[in-house]
Amino acid sequence: MTPGLRKLVLTAHITFSVGWIGAVAAFLVLAIAGVSSQNPQMMRAAYPAMELTARFVIVPLAFASLLSGLVQSLGTPWGLFRHYWVLAKLLLTTFATIVLLKKMPLIGYAARRATERLLSSADLRAAGIPLVVHAAGGILVLLVVTILSVYKPWGLTRYGQRKQEERQFQPPRSAQIVEVNAMFDPDNKTAGGGLSRGLKIFLAAGIGVFLVVVHVSMHLTSHSFHHGH
Ligand code: HEM
Repeated sequence: MTPGLRKLVLTAHITFSVGWIGAVAAFLVLAIAGVSSQNPQMMRAAYPAMELTARFVIVPLAFASLLSGLVQSLGTPWGLFRHYWVLAKLLLTTFATIVLLKKMPLIGYAARRATERLLSSADLRAAGIPLVVHAAGGILVLLVVTILSVYKPWGLTRYGQRKQEERQFQPPRSAQIVEVNAMFDPDNKTAGGGLSRGLKIFLAAGIGVFLVVVHVSMHLTSHSFHHGH
């Protein structure tokens, strides 16, 4: 990957991954309302909102984080199996995604039943408790992954050591190591290098998507306001 492309993918990776944590935090608040609200209407409303958040925000962000993480690993000298922190991130993120997918049927079931008013408050609570527990656990796992990303502990795996030794006998490829060091050298002026064309396009696209989402959600809100009251 060129340094410009690498920064672009890294920006996307961080946005998806940290956004995932924020979305699970919103889900957790809804799940807590679904379990403990004193207001039955609020309780029933929480479940469909949870399903929308999980299906259209959390699951897509989980896949986007995993995919962009794989691209970052395989497309840079970090590698997928060369550093313990990358390996640990891969395992924890895969685990979190599998648990998420396994919980989707329960979320869909509770949402359908809540809208059809087929479950009592006690039943809704029973469906909601595992969701509260898993959302809270998920946030903790994702926070551990974030810490691993920033501190990058534990150094090279055996495979990584072997690869590094091999590289030392191949001078042209060691340029990659120089590149990694440059990216993480705070004094390196070329590492920052202003906003690349790719990043500008990325920012413009992001702002465009944001405006469309705001527009659509304002439209939907005014629609339900006119028809609901
Ligand atoms: C919830 C999951 C994840 C979170 C919160 C997360 C977070 C981050 C953050 C904040 C960084 C920036 C670190 C820095 O530049 O100092 C980063 C970089 C990185 N992440 Fe992740 N990540 C996640 C999942 C993954 C996965 C699943 C993989 C690999 C399969 C991965 C591989 C990488 C790599 C290789 C980098 C360094 C990229 C570079 O320097 O070009 N990440 N991640």
